[in-house]
Amino acid sequence: MPTTRRTVLQGIGVGGAASLAGCSADSAPQTNRRRTEKATSKQQQKTVERVAADPTDIPDPISRTEPKEVEVTLRPEEVTGEIEDGVTFTYMTYNGQVPGPFIRVRKGDTVNLTFENPEENAMPHNVDFHAVAGPGGGAEATMTAPGETAHLKFKATYPGAYIYHCAVPNMDMHISAGMFGIILVEPEEGLPEVDHEFYFGQHEIYTDKRAGEEGHHEFSMGSMPREDPTYVLLNGEKYGITPDNRGSPTVQTGDTARVYFVTGGPNLTSSFHPIGNVWEKLWPEGSLTTEPQTHIQTKQVAPGSTTVATMNFPVPGASKLVDHSLSRVMRKGCLAVIEAEGAERPDIFDPDPDT
Ligand code: CU
Ligand code: CU
Repeated sequence: MPTTRRTVLQGIGVGGAASLAGCSADSAPQTNRRRTEKATSKQQQKTVERVAADPTDIPDPISRTEPKEVEVTLRPEEVTGEIEDGVTFTYMTYNGQVPGPFIRVRKGDTVNLTFENPEENAMPHNVDFHAVAGPGGGAEATMTAPGETAHLKFKATYPGAYIYHCAVPNMDMHISAGMFGIILVEPEEGLPEVDHEFYFGQHEIYTDKRAGEEGHHEFSMGSMPREDPTYVLLNGEKYGITPDNRGSPTVQTGDTARVYFVTGGPNLTSSFHPIGNVWEKLWPEGSLTTEPQTHIQTKQVAPGSTTVATMNFPVPGASKLVDHSLSRVMRKGCLAVIEAEGAERPDIFDPDPDT
């Protein structure tokens, strides 16, 4: 009988949770009494049906012409979900999704951040925003143990699309488990108008099993230093944002879309490419105050960086977003799809010119 997403999630309970606590090398030794109690109390650790961030879940473009104070709440959440059908993994996330919530402010805004580390977690977490001018991007200020809450106030003094990520001592592990996202600081003049905006994040997961092997995958501290991941993913799940899985965003032919893309890593650089399309305009490294490059086929996006790029959809069909290191697509899960609907345009693309 095929295993469904739901039955596998219901089945894992204790094992997944306990193992998460076990693979921690954050700070305290395993003999530490408090941590041992934590691990035991983790038996009701949260399982989630979906980890993949909805690529359309982006705050509206900012029309304000004055700065303001913006309230942001981030919750580091350790949750068990499925990388693909039948393969569970204990993710570390911001607000239960990968990548974490898309944060949108304007240059000059002041951000009041509340960082709530839930009691149910096993580990300390924090956040380092590359949009923050200050020590650690806020990492020390937000360092919290389970059950603790921290506050940070910062001014967004420079525009651009920036990564944020966990920066505890085992930051490579925490990012690999899902702790990264984008904070967009819009320039004062705003961004060009588009019909759609989409949000994608690439990262890689290192586990103790082969890709596709059913069961609970533990984090592998062995394969991570070798930079040999089991999965390379867009939005945290194998082929998550595709028509057969969580569904794909749909546009109409003639529309324009702006894609915000972040590479969490922790180690692999993405060669970000739209199959069947091109990056019409592209702002390298998420630097929005430069002139965009035009008609770019493949853009390298390093870990800890972003790119912002627009695409058009002159003909109907799928635009497939991939890392052009293609074994990551064919064997490790790195694919997302945007679907364009509309009338065929045989003057531009004719798959059957002889009829
Ligand atoms: Cu963390
Ligand atoms: Cu960083």
